[in-house]
Amino acid sequence: MKTRPIGIFDSGLGGLTVLKALRKKLPHEHFIYFGDSANVPYGAKSRQTVTKLSVAIAQFLEQQDAKLIIVACNTASAQALPTLQKKCHVPVLGVIEPGAQKAIRLTRSGRIALLGTEGTVRSGAYEKALKKKRKDIRFFAKACPLFVPLVEENWTHKPAARLIAQEYLAPLQKKRVDTIILGCTHYPILKPLLRQIAGENITLVDPSDTLAEEVHRLLTKLGQSQTTGRGSARFYASDDPARFKRLAKLVLSAPIQTVHLKKLNV
Ligand code: DGL
Repeated sequence: MKTRPIGIFDSGLGGLTVLKALRKKLPHEHFIYFGDSANVPYGAKSRQTVTKLSVAIAQFLEQQDAKLIIVACNTASAQALPTLQKKCHVPVLGVIEPGAQKAIRLTRSGRIALLGTEGTVRSGAYEKALKKKRKDIRFFAKACPLFVPLVEENWTHKPAARLIAQEYLAPLQKKRVDTIILGCTHYPILKPLLRQIAGENITLVDPSDTLAEEVHRLLTKLGQSQTTGRGSARFYASDDPARFKRLAKLVLSAPIQTVHLKKLNV
């Protein structure tokens, strides 16, 4: 049981930022990463479509004998998590709860903002999770649909990226938030730029390290934590594995060996 892999999925490449955090915290575990490159982006899709795709991916990961499934994608976590938890035979964890937990821990003023995709913002999932923990939270959200293509095109250092980020952050700065949740897997890649624009007084929250701690706790509790040996990662993409492999190197700052093609039957 312990040696079974952890399944993790995202709409595309962004979830590799989550995989990175998981591998750091759980170096002995084996991972199977699925990037739905045929259907990215999820951010502008309906809840029904995101749920249908997420269920198909989770089924594939279960077939691969995953002992746990991690929904790295914020959009899928916000819209499909309850369905996945109902349908899967293994535990399924998303990123919203760890992100909300970390933001509550770090905010001083209780004024919290979310940057996310249209789908994540529309779902209200972060606001609900935050207010469940602390009722007096003032919550503000901004959908940032142009961030994902900037990252996917490796344009994060271009002046256009700075202008777009300034435009997105300005209304939140006016609201005097002290904490901003990076509620999309691609956004941690923009963190240095967002840090410059937001300034030192605003805390940027990447949910992935809190998620990694939660995964560690859960596996230990279930007696399924792999504590010896060298971990590994196996990669699948639903379209153009060569492109996925090329761009993955940018996100992981290290090359990956092989990306397998796995088309989804949806
Ligand atoms: N992976 C998605 C998320 O974290 C962002 C990219 C997309 O729109 O598919 O919300």
